[in-house]
Amino acid sequence: MSSGRRQRKPEGQPTRGKTARNRLRRVDRFLQGYDPGLLTRRDGAFARAFYVDLGYGEEPVTTLESASRLRELNPELPVLGIEIDPERVARAQPYAGPLTFFRLGGFNLPLGTWPDGTPETVRLVRAFNVLRQYDEEAVAQAYSLLFESILPGGLLVEGTSDPFGSLWVANVVRSRTGSSGTWTDEALVFGTNFRTGFDPAAYQAVLPKRYIHRVVPGEPIHAFFEAWKQAAREKAPIKVWGARQWFVATAQQMATRGYQLDLRARWLRKGVLIWKTSH
Ligand SMILES: C[S@@+](CC[C@H](N)C(=O)[O-])C[C@H]1O[C@@H](n2cnc3c(N)ncnc32)[C@H](O)[C@@H]1O
Repeated sequence: MSSGRRQRKPEGQPTRGKTARNRLRRVDRFLQGYDPGLLTRRDGAFARAFYVDLGYGEEPVTTLESASRLRELNPELPVLGIEIDPERVARAQPYAGPLTFFRLGGFNLPLGTWPDGTPETVRLVRAFNVLRQYDEEAVAQAYSLLFESILPGGLLVEGTSDPFGSLWVANVVRSRTGSSGTWTDEALVFGTNFRTGFDPAAYQAVLPKRYIHRVVPGEPIHAFFEAWKQAAREKAPIKVWGARQWFVATAQQMATRGYQLDLRARWLRKGVLIWKTSH
């Protein structure tokens, strides 16, 4: 048990709580592979730093699933599910355990101290299908509050998926070292399980709030989608080998246009396109 928590009014607004078992399975697998060192590090303030699942919804299934997947890497990983809706917090309590906690809170994360007096800290926050229901103007404020709690070098993975997690898009944002409360965009990640084939335009429906209204000429995200669609047309003959091969060839084609993409087979073959946005 942890204790010594300050009671602050949770920042944010209750929204629809729809979730589903295994909806974020692919996001969990991405987290395992993207920066495993962040999930396992134990130096200094990282010793007992939380993995936070912000806005877990009606039932805490995605938090519990993440806990079990991420503990494949770090069996001692403390996990904190946060909800702004008190009923959802109450409903989750039976699933709490020695390293798994559910608390009422908002973007100003409800952290306190461990029983021995050490401050609680955070290594990674996942916020999925949360900000999509806010106004675009609220996003920067939400990030500012979150990065007040994320340790330097830690991550925010903030994104949107379709109801079953077949398609998803996430911002990967790094907390800056040496300058607390500030962040750098590191990547925009596009995931698919190929269930509906491959179509770059399909991701536009699951863009995070920061981009959903920005697919208009003059915006980098618009140029990115135009280049992706163009590359997919150029590589259309590969379709005969299946959507996966077409997706991989299209990414390789995009990279020839100067886009900084992670072309490693371990990502592309799994339907994950990582566009490195920090350069
Ligand atoms: C659509 S559900 C998403 C559930 C789960 N993350 C998923 O992707 O399946 C969004 C949840 O976020 C919660 N929420 C919205 N704003 C929040 C905030 N500022 N802090 C904590 N939870 C929040 C809502 O109450 C809602 O239960």
